[in-house]
Amino acid sequence: MGCRLLLLLSALCALLLLLLLCLGLLLRADSDLTLQWAERRGRCPERELPGMVVWVTGASGGIGEELAYQLSKLGVSLVLSARREHELERVKRKCLDNGTVKEKDILILPLDLTNRSSHEVATNAILQEFGRIDILINNGGRAQCSLIVDTNMDVFKELIELNYLGTVSLTKCVLPHMIQRKQGKIVTMNSLVGIIPGTACSGYGASKHALRGFFNSLYIELGEYPDIIISNIYPGPVRSNIMKNALTEEITKDFKYIHTLATSRCARLILIAMANNLKEVWISGQSFLLRAYLWQYMPSLACWISRVFQKQLRKILNDM
Ligand SMILES: NC(=O)c1ccc[n+]([C@@H]2O[C@H](COP(=O)([O-])OP(=O)(O)OC[C@H]3O[C@@H](n4cnc5c(N)ncnc54)[C@H](OP(=O)(O)O)[C@@H]3O)[C@@H](O)[C@H]2O)c1
Repeated sequence: MGCRLLLLLSALCALLLLLLLCLGLLLRADSDLTLQWAERRGRCPERELPGMVVWVTGASGGIGEELAYQLSKLGVSLVLSARREHELERVKRKCLDNGTVKEKDILILPLDLTNRSSHEVATNAILQEFGRIDILINNGGRAQCSLIVDTNMDVFKELIELNYLGTVSLTKCVLPHMIQRKQGKIVTMNSLVGIIPGTACSGYGASKHALRGFFNSLYIELGEYPDIIISNIYPGPVRSNIMKNALTEEITKDFKYIHTLATSRCARLILIAMANNLKEVWISGQSFLLRAYLWQYMPSLACWISRVFQKQLRKILNDM
């Protein structure tokens, strides 16, 4: 009897220690536990990604620009897309300065995600140039910062047109080609607000929730093609121009905000997720990461806490 009790107590202590270890890792982390494990023990991008043809949307700034630099150092063939061609040229020059890729390895392909009729032509242009698309990184998008009551319907429509329908349309153009080859990766930049509801970003959050639903369904539908990888990336706040470019109450009004995680760190973690074929990753410092876990596993408690702190968040927004 005494021996059994001792065994039970030891097992409980071991479990407690494991929980404390996980909590310690989580508190110091800037990504979820699976991605942390992949970074320490998994496959590295330098071995897995060279030689691939990678199409990055939203490559003219922020996370997309940083992804382009880091990918160019790995020796991939790059297709850079966004609306501002001169910015894409600037990113291309910086990639060439890295010295690993050559002029012929980088294609500049201006593209407006909201102009869906142009997506098929763009896809074919890449197939003509490189013969295949190994990885599509759906990164282009815009955020929002305005309360629901103050926000014009045009803003909600624009967010769905760009973040959701633009991404779905491009994915649908690339998908038949990947199905034909029975391989490929589709990596989509979602956001932690696609999991945690945020104050003053209802339309943005809705567009990202829609993406979550779409890509989770796509993952299941592609069950017979295990080598087509669907990867969803959920970053928290990252240093970029996203809030400078955010939509507010009116289509024409600007907003300014300060971000936390370095863009280079975010891009590196995305490459690790790609190299390890991770289906869903969360990239963020605290408190966003803890909140994501809370929303995932204890939504009622998370909902209550968010409402309690809602007033403080609203005050911060008003003071800006
Ligand atoms: N930064 C963050 O805190 C954060 C957090 C979570 C998720 N994300 C997601 O990460 C992705 C990249 O954001 P970011 O932080 O790098 O923002 P960013 O610095 O504002 O860059 C956004 C990119 O999207 C492109 N874009 C905007 N509208 C477009 C359109 N109509 N057609 C084609 N491209 C368009 C922009 O290029 P052009 O203006 O030249 O078209 C730019 O290259 C977004 O999907 C965002 O939702 C960011």
